Amino acid sequence: MSNIIHLDTERTSYILDVLPTGHLAGLYYGRRLRAMDDYGPLRQKNVVPYGTMVNVSQEHKNIGLDDQCLEYSGLGKGDYREPAIELVFADGSRTTDFHYDSSRTYSGRPGIEGLPSALGGEADVQTTEVMLRDAERGLSLVLNYCVYAKYDVITRFATLRNDSAEPVRVGRLMSAQLDLPGGSWNFVTFDGCWAYERERNDRPVRPGIYVNDSKTGNSSNRHNPFVMLTSENCAEDSGECYASNLVYSGNHAEILEATYQGKVRLLTGINPSGFEWLLEEGQTFTTPEAVLSYSATGLNQLSRNMHRFVQDFIVRGEWQRKERPVLINNWEATEFDFDKRKLLALAKEAANLGIELFVLDDGWFGKRDDDTSSLGDWTVNEKKLPGGIAGLIPKINSLGLKFGIWVEPEMVNEDSDLYRAHPDWSIATPGRAPAYGRNQFVLDLTRPDVRAYLIEAMAGVFSQGNIEYVKWDMNRNISDAWSGALSPERQGEFHHRYVLGLYEILAELVRRFPAILFESCASGGNRFDLGMLCYMPQTWTSDDTDAYARLSIQGGTSYGYPQSVMGAHVSASPNMQTLRASTIETRFNVAAFGLLGYELDLTMLSPFDKKAIKEQVSFYKAHRTLLQFGRFLRVPARLGADKTIWAVVSEDGTEAIAGLFQGSAKVGRGQDLLTVPGLEPGAAFAVRGRPQYINVKAFGNLVNRVLPVKIRGDGVLHTVLSSHYMFRMATEDYRANGDLLSDYGIMLIPQFSGTGYNDSVRIFSDYGSRLYTVEKIGGDHMISMVTP
Ligand code: DGJ
Repeated sequence: MSNIIHLDTERTSYILDVLPTGHLAGLYYGRRLRAMDDYGPLRQKNVVPYGTMVNVSQEHKNIGLDDQCLEYSGLGKGDYREPAIELVFADGSRTTDFHYDSSRTYSGRPGIEGLPSALGGEADVQTTEVMLRDAERGLSLVLNYCVYAKYDVITRFATLRNDSAEPVRVGRLMSAQLDLPGGSWNFVTFDGCWAYERERNDRPVRPGIYVNDSKTGNSSNRHNPFVMLTSENCAEDSGECYASNLVYSGNHAEILEATYQGKVRLLTGINPSGFEWLLEEGQTFTTPEAVLSYSATGLNQLSRNMHRFVQDFIVRGEWQRKERPVLINNWEATEFDFDKRKLLALAKEAANLGIELFVLDDGWFGKRDDDTSSLGDWTVNEKKLPGGIAGLIPKINSLGLKFGIWVEPEMVNEDSDLYRAHPDWSIATPGRAPAYGRNQFVLDLTRPDVRAYLIEAMAGVFSQGNIEYVKWDMNRNISDAWSGALSPERQGEFHHRYVLGLYEILAELVRRFPAILFESCASGGNRFDLGMLCYMPQTWTSDDTDAYARLSIQGGTSYGYPQSVMGAHVSASPNMQTLRASTIETRFNVAAFGLLGYELDLTMLSPFDKKAIKEQVSFYKAHRTLLQFGRFLRVPARLGADKTIWAVVSEDGTEAIAGLFQGSAKVGRGQDLLTVPGLEPGAAFAVRGRPQYINVKAFGNLVNRVLPVKIRGDGVLHTVLSSHYMFRMATEDYRANGDLLSDYGIMLIPQFSGTGYNDSVRIFSDYGSRLYTVEKIGGDHMISMVTP
């Protein structure tokens, strides 16, 4: 009897089988395979036992679960790897044994109660439900496979149902288990800390157990839930790779186990550490949704699968695929030190520069002049803002700007009316003084009264006038986890219930305020995940706004998330987090590959910077669809040392924008090849450097070598020129056909290398960068270079 379940996407196949023992096996996940009459060739040949094997039944003496590719494993029946499920029964026993029962497939997909899940109607997705049963214990487990064929994405989640007459304690219930046979893999994770999130880390997988998790109460800046398994020689444009992400914002775990027998298991789901859920008779528990994808042609394709999926099935509502406004945020410009006059001056300047949205960040409420007070008291500080938010908004709107506001609803300061009135609303463990983070505590969102209060408090804030954008911040990790609303045996549910509580609040506010553009934030990217993106279409990527650091942060983030969800701002130089100096053009060129904003004191800008910014904003607006929603590609810089190339390419391959970025400048390494993959092969393209300006101060005494007039380096004239004179970077204008650009590239004019300057030399010092527009200009065309 064959129980094969063969799921196909356009380029991948996922095949399930049932072992003779009745256990559900993962037969294959990879490049698409045709349906077969006989799946024998794929099956493991269990013709002799292996040493120290434990076999579940004497009927099948050669089958030990420990060396099979299984779909969902438990404890106690001879599979000694990390399990997907761990239960404790009323009698204290822990053995589980789930067998295949039945399956059904239908068009469309179910939602998940209480949790966000991917969208998808009957035309987008087909679901296969596989029912497993542990008959001896009266449990059923439904494994859901939602197949998004056009996206090469399969999502998974599991529902456990307790049909026994006794409660069961759930210690672990993962969203997905993926067992793969053999191979040399790298486990790729995206790790970091505050202001340096999601740096790519590759670990060659050796036999052992690897854990990528968070215990902070959120998805964390330490280890993002997005992970990859890449084959040994996998690169951006070649090689096999798998991706996994989780639609969840709380403690998660991605556990990888590689055995000496050559099997690799990846688990993803709620972190079992600190988790325990009491499942009463007749109750069910459903896991968050895991998102899986496979590419046989490298990482850019894998990212593409994830990006399109996020854009079409995770982000939702009025802002799905809608162009996002260019914003000014006052945080790095003023921090807490502002008043109405300062804000209006900033807004006026922003409007002059073409910026579209003004965001009032932290410090507008209570008596908050620093981070020691007022979180929880969401009433305006009339001293700073006479006339309140309601009075400010029309003034901002009359400048032609939308208005947005910052909130941090999940938090409370000890020094706040809210804390004084409800000390029991903040998270603490009985008999212990709670730990602080940024002088604040976290509210207990497991409590229905806290949730009801927050919904109304926020609805009040959002109704103070024409508020069109909200930044929802969360600036500390959870500690002292415990809730007075939960019985002692349910305290292990605390973290998950916190996340469920948060989702309930977000769902209600998004329902009430569908037109608001929400941006989620958690000290930058401490909660950058697919769960938040189901409610808030964009996320503040990092508190690190340094352009060079952002190459790693945005670049790392781009493996799993599209640029259309990444907030990216131009801030002051030297940078507030790194003290690194970089030019206004480089700061823009990096931020342009995200949702552009400015976060610096615009009232202090030199005429030079103002002119540069004005042109940047108009360039960004002119190419906004492409920059925000084009296909994002990380392009290997073949010739460059410490060089990065990013590109965004239109779906039809007729236009693109590429960015070339440099770390430290090296003499003799200035010959760059600009490759732009994904262009229409037969078409001819014009590649032009975005007009960019160089501040003549950058040349120091060498200024006389680049200017036709003689001036004293660092003298008064030099200083005056530096703030007014728009010295243009060399004009770059090339022609090439699409296949050449995509498959190889064009040699750019050389960068300055100390051996002479003329107007065909690209000035490119430390952290230099340039954007190039790539536009189709006709049919086939021979490569030619137009002398600049
Ligand atoms: C942390 C955020 O990431 C910053 O952008 C800013 O909003 C501050 N919080 C305000 O306290």
